[in-house]
Amino acid sequence: MRANELRRAFTGFFADRGHTVVPSASLIPHDPTVLFTVAGMVPFKPYFVGEEVPPYPRATSVQKCVRAGGKHNDLDEIGRTSRHLTFFEMLGNFSFGDYFKETAIPLAWEFVTSTLALDPERLWVTVHITDNEAEQIWRDVVGVPAERIQRLDEDNFWRMGDIGPCGPCSEIFWDKGPEYGADGGPAEGGEDRFIEIWNLVFMQFEQQPDGSMVPLPKPSIDTGAGLERMLSVVQGVDSVFELDEIRALIARAEQLTGTTYGTDERSDVSLRIIAEHARTTAFLVGDGVIPSNEDRGYVLRRIIRRAITRTYLLGVDEVVFPQMVDEVVSIMGADYPQIVTSHQAIRDTVEREEERFRETLGTAMRLLNETIDNSGPTTPIGGEFLFKLYDTFGLPPEVTKEILESRGLGFDQAAYDEAMSEQRTRGKNARKGVAHDEATALMARVAEQHGPTEFTGRDEYRSQATVFGGFGDAVVLDRTPFYAESGGQIGDTGTIEGDGVRARVLDTTYGVPGLVRHTVEVVDGAFEVGQSVTATIDGVRRDAIRRNHTATHIVHWALRETLGDHVKQQGSYVGPDRARFDFSHFQAVSPDEIVAIEDLANREILGNAEVRHYETTKQAALDSGAIAFFGDKYGDTVRVLEAGAHSVELCGGTHVHALGDIGPVKIVSEQSIGSNIRRIEVVSGTGPIERLRDAERHLDAAAEALSVPVDDLLDGIRKRHDETKALRDEVKALRREVAQAHAGDLADDAIDGVIVAEVQAATRDEVRDLAVSLRDKPGMRIVVLGASPGGKGVALVAAVSPGSGLDAGELIADAVRMVGGGGGKGGDLATAGGKDPSQLGAALDDVRAKLHVT
Ligand code: SER
Repeated sequence: MRANELRRAFTGFFADRGHTVVPSASLIPHDPTVLFTVAGMVPFKPYFVGEEVPPYPRATSVQKCVRAGGKHNDLDEIGRTSRHLTFFEMLGNFSFGDYFKETAIPLAWEFVTSTLALDPERLWVTVHITDNEAEQIWRDVVGVPAERIQRLDEDNFWRMGDIGPCGPCSEIFWDKGPEYGADGGPAEGGEDRFIEIWNLVFMQFEQQPDGSMVPLPKPSIDTGAGLERMLSVVQGVDSVFELDEIRALIARAEQLTGTTYGTDERSDVSLRIIAEHARTTAFLVGDGVIPSNEDRGYVLRRIIRRAITRTYLLGVDEVVFPQMVDEVVSIMGADYPQIVTSHQAIRDTVEREEERFRETLGTAMRLLNETIDNSGPTTPIGGEFLFKLYDTFGLPPEVTKEILESRGLGFDQAAYDEAMSEQRTRGKNARKGVAHDEATALMARVAEQHGPTEFTGRDEYRSQATVFGGFGDAVVLDRTPFYAESGGQIGDTGTIEGDGVRARVLDTTYGVPGLVRHTVEVVDGAFEVGQSVTATIDGVRRDAIRRNHTATHIVHWALRETLGDHVKQQGSYVGPDRARFDFSHFQAVSPDEIVAIEDLANREILGNAEVRHYETTKQAALDSGAIAFFGDKYGDTVRVLEAGAHSVELCGGTHVHALGDIGPVKIVSEQSIGSNIRRIEVVSGTGPIERLRDAERHLDAAAEALSVPVDDLLDGIRKRHDETKALRDEVKALRREVAQAHAGDLADDAIDGVIVAEVQAATRDEVRDLAVSLRDKPGMRIVVLGASPGGKGVALVAAVSPGSGLDAGELIADAVRMVGGGGGKGGDLATAGGKDPSQLGAALDDVRAKLHVT
């Protein structure tokens, strides 16, 4: 049985038993509490917890899943075990309060023993230690011998995340045989021998943020079977990496790296990682994740970098990962059309990312090798250095570890962890690339001495403060209401005044992490350390900034609601006049979609719900449904912004207190700023009114120019348009008359039915029409006309009467050359252009000479 046959056999089996077949949902879940779709049940969560009424009582699906970050994270296992994958497909059948254990258990058994025809003697099951009922069904209804039913505790309790639906579960295991390890069933035997092929979760509770569990409205069923694991049992292979589809990817990795699989464990791990990560990458980018430094994009970036580092370790120094992704699309595209339609976008994204990463990878490797060469065999390499390889160069720590091990050195994990936690303490506001000029050095000293600047500007616009230092145009205070540019929000402006000093603040930034730098223009006096001052921000400007900032959160939510969950913030700028918001999306946002987004955002704003902005622990933030972030990019304390009922994001900016404060929101532009990244600009508050006024002014000016009232503008324009058209027709008719008179004159000058003449004409078409109408006059045989329409270039036309036996093109060929032109082929009628009007007379003389008319 092949992968595609198993997909169909599974859903077919459950469809025959009353289940609705539901297509795979995106890897980016609706649910903000999980980073990726980690299981088949994730898209159905609202049905389990009773938030939404299920449209069907039973469902079955083959769901693409990623477990790489957050609670369900298999990233570090990949390539080292025979069964872990970051991307996998989950087969599942679900009951939303319909059937329960009594049906789910026999159904699972029937599928594995009948459809898959697995030997029942080699199957084991586990149940939760408390679950007598499940054990009884397995034993008495299904007939599994009691000695092959085992009880487990936490291992048989499944949770979607730290919050969300959960319940005791029961798993089915396959015994690969004594050659794979110790006996004793899954509870005691080895994981390599007893392989879990199916998990039946009896969903009964919802885990609450405070740790308690409340019963679900109705007990439900969520089963999940990893397609790859099940297939490895069915195909009788030792590892998921032997499965046809994944093995083909390893084969491609072998070609690209010039390495043979199965010769050396270390390079095998690399080949497996490259193959596995290529699948994850193709599917994540296909669902709209873009490599970045935050949440999902950060996980993706790590995955891509791990794979590329592995190719590097195998000696590859050119871009190869796009070819791996091509292979994924060609192998799996038939069952997942999404990766086929977005193939080019996936390729472009991966290529860009690899090109960028390879630039730093070389430097990192050189540094590491030099450090290894220069350190004695027993000297441990500094934790800070190991951390820097990861933090600055993106070299995955496990790769550093492996390189050190291969050179007989250990990786100092404790020192590495310490360097990592120090960096966290230095603050989440750390900005890369701060110039280490003198002022920065002084500020670093101030920061060391006094700690970070206290920010008072959430509650007040004016604060009393003490000067900690002044360096050139930079002033540092102990506390300040000035917001330093960060998270896309522009810095505040205002004034600082004290005894003997008055200064305008032109900009506010972080001088060094945590320390606010006011960039000033001193109007009067001078700053002195220790001086008391009053710092006042421009409140009108700040109010406009906060409106725009909260507006971007609401628009972000409205974008996702309208366009889909693949929309993800890629960058932003929030200023007083407008906000810019960049996000991933595969095509231009249509005018209808813009209207829908604006309507949704404005409806939300008019609801005037409260905006809550508070500091909390990262854990509590996740519990409240804030977009989950991965890894160590945030400290333990974070700021959460709940803007109304729907938008929950981590954000350190400044915001309004109720949504109504934002005022109207309008999207004023939409454009592409890179492959699959769109940029919109938004105005809020008084912004839309100003635009409205501008538009009115334009309309007034237009109406005045047309001398009509504004209300009649459209009619006025139409009338003008009709008048212009009528005038144009009249001019045309007059021209024709003139041309005809002219043609009459020319015809009179004809010698023996031949006319060669220079004429006046506004367009080339006119010359041609004139030539044709002349030729068609009685007795006329040959007409050659030349003109310089509108004084630019040359038009030459030859028209001969059909019976003349002459070739119009040949007739003017030399003349055309003389005026520096081309074209002019044709039997009865040849038209040609030229560049040089000064030669027109000579060119026509040439024609006359040929025709013996002078
Ligand atoms: N949610 C369970 C799991 O992921 C069963 O589908 O194992």
